[in-house]
Amino acid sequence: MSETRPQWGSRVGFILAAAGSAVGLGNIWKFPYITGENGGGWFVLIYLVCIAVIGLPIMMAEIFIGRTAQNSPVGAIRSLSRPGSPWIGVGWLGVLTAFVILSYYSVIAGWAMHYVFLSVEGGFAGLDKTQVDTIFAEFSADPMRSVFWHVLFMFITFAIVVGGVKRGVERSARILMPALCLMMVALVIHSIGSDGFKPALDFVFAPHNENFHWGPATLEALGHAFFTLSLGMGAMITYGSYLKRDDDLVTTSVTVCTLDTVIALLACMVIFPIIFTYGMEPDAGPGLVFKSLPLAFGKMAGGAIWATVFFLLLTFAALTSGISLLEVAASYFIDERGWSRFKASSICAAVILLMGVPTALSAGTKLFGSGFAQMTSIVFGENNGKDWFGVFDYISSNWMLPLGGLFISLFVAWRVSGEARERGFKSGTKFDRMFWGWVFLLRFIVPFGVIAVFLNLIGFFDLIGLTGE
Ligand code: TRP
Repeated sequence: MSETRPQWGSRVGFILAAAGSAVGLGNIWKFPYITGENGGGWFVLIYLVCIAVIGLPIMMAEIFIGRTAQNSPVGAIRSLSRPGSPWIGVGWLGVLTAFVILSYYSVIAGWAMHYVFLSVEGGFAGLDKTQVDTIFAEFSADPMRSVFWHVLFMFITFAIVVGGVKRGVERSARILMPALCLMMVALVIHSIGSDGFKPALDFVFAPHNENFHWGPATLEALGHAFFTLSLGMGAMITYGSYLKRDDDLVTTSVTVCTLDTVIALLACMVIFPIIFTYGMEPDAGPGLVFKSLPLAFGKMAGGAIWATVFFLLLTFAALTSGISLLEVAASYFIDERGWSRFKASSICAAVILLMGVPTALSAGTKLFGSGFAQMTSIVFGENNGKDWFGVFDYISSNWMLPLGGLFISLFVAWRVSGEARERGFKSGTKFDRMFWGWVFLLRFIVPFGVIAVFLNLIGFFDLIGLTGE
């Protein structure tokens, strides 16, 4: 197997693909709305610290595992420990997580595609708030259309992954990522000229106490750091496994984290100026991108064009991330089960497609607070008011990813032999003096951070009165 292991065409190809995985709906849809909900500046600052102190070390740990073992997560962990080791469970968890995340990710990506379509038609011009809300509510509650876009998104993702690492994943990233950056720059330049730009700068980069609580904000920032960097489920292990052993671990990881962060901040500098120019509220929640923005585009000169660019950007971002999720699932069956790439990617895509259908049927209305979702109560019983999308999103991003990240960091920090760890880190990099800093963060800081997230989830901080409510 190792002699035919696919490889990236170049280091830049890897960086674009990995950044493509990281930059996704998390950056452009979710980060702005959680920044809005948490009051801006302070939250952004905490987020940056989480990326540097927790996200970056775990990213290096994942790429380290994949690059050293030249294998996808399950096989990689096996070869760095021993056959039958319980640590291999982390690899399994990752494969499962890929299925779960992509199944709902694809539905939201489908909405983005639908909005490209609406924008091209000039669909938002002159609409008022109720009309924009109605477009969203009707569309997301319309089974045929939601499912249609979900199927289309999964099909495109499949068509790229089946092309292989170099000809599919890398080549698509080489086209989509520069296009994404260009669109981003165009949108930011357009925003700079608007009245809302100064207030937006102030909102995102200056400290504000309104709507801000240290406890919940820190935990939300930490949880999001995993999601946005594609950590905790082996995506970076898989992508790292197509690197050569002497590719530089430190510079590639730092570059990917930086790109991801810059794009998330730029997304804020596109969205908030628009929101403020049209006198809307930054804390609209998940509807910020699908409801508040279209309303603003509808009033803007040239709004149809800007809306098209924006939703195309969102679609491209989602696509490169979807590709990485499918690649994790498929590579497991290719490496461990000996399936052909075609068989692995088509079967995985088909299963994910089916898993996503309940989300496509239930997400919209419930997610944005106006409806039902009885489907899930059949499966989950009393589900605390969460629909299928809510349950999948909650379990995967709050539990599965941090749990995976915790075990990956513990594995690299304590289980992998000291010699392999040091040799792996230092091969091909000039920054070998950072080795001990990395190990220190993985050993002591990352586990505390993640355990804090879990304690919060089970309500521990509420119990001792720390959440500042
Ligand atoms: N990072 C992507 C985003 O920000 C989502 C994503 C892609 C992901 N692959 C992943 C999240 C793997 C967790 C794990 O939208």
